[in-house]
Amino acid sequence: MNDSQEPKDPLLLDHEADGIKELDNNLPRWWVWMFVFCCIHAFGYMLYYHVFNAGKLQAAEYAEEAAIGEKLKHEAQAKFEASLGSMEPSKDTVVLARGKVTYDTYCSPCHRPDGGGLVGPNLCDDYWIHGPKFADNLKIIVHGFPVKGMLAWKDMLKPEEIYAVASHIHTLRGTKPPNPKLPENEQQPEKPSEFE
Ligand code: HEC
Repeated sequence: MNDSQEPKDPLLLDHEADGIKELDNNLPRWWVWMFVFCCIHAFGYMLYYHVFNAGKLQAAEYAEEAAIGEKLKHEAQAKFEASLGSMEPSKDTVVLARGKVTYDTYCSPCHRPDGGGLVGPNLCDDYWIHGPKFADNLKIIVHGFPVKGMLAWKDMLKPEEIYAVASHIHTLRGTKPPNPKLPENEQQPEKPSEFE
């Protein structure tokens, strides 16, 4: 190919870099108008959000919505915690099935799938570290006992999930899984139910 014999394009500019040449085309009108519109819009945007601070930026909007969510969550938690004492374990199979899923996912690594105990205590016997009542179980799941390795679940599980998982572990009571963890009632602040 011999460039010198081709007629020169009138739009071709003089400069060249690494064999790349430039044509001096006019930009399409629609493109130019869009560019102008973007400039005007950007200017308005800057004034609205950054000069007059009239609108909320993304971070502020996020913080506002997160605060609303937190408030709703705290209200639900407070309502749940206030009613713990009067709750009875659910017998609803749907609730119990949900509780089992939660248990198998989050609790079984420490309490064993059958509740026999591993890192965490046996949940099937009558020896309770934090009290034998259903409400005692609910409280310890909600608030945990972090110094001894039991987490507080109230920020990880919804109230109905905590209720369901407590109802599920209630069904494990009285079952006799093989090789259970030995009773840990030496630390028990309340009498276990069998002494009552
Ligand atoms: C990281 C390990 C771990 C996980 C995960 C865990 N637990 Fe525990 N759990 C413990 C330990 C350790 C204790 C004993 C705390 C103590 O000695 O005060 C305990 C105590 C308890 C108690 C009180 C037992 C008693 O004798 O009073 C209940 C009820 C309980 N856990 C339920 C649950 C449930 C439900 C889950 C899942 C949502 C769960 N745990 C997840 C380690 C765990």
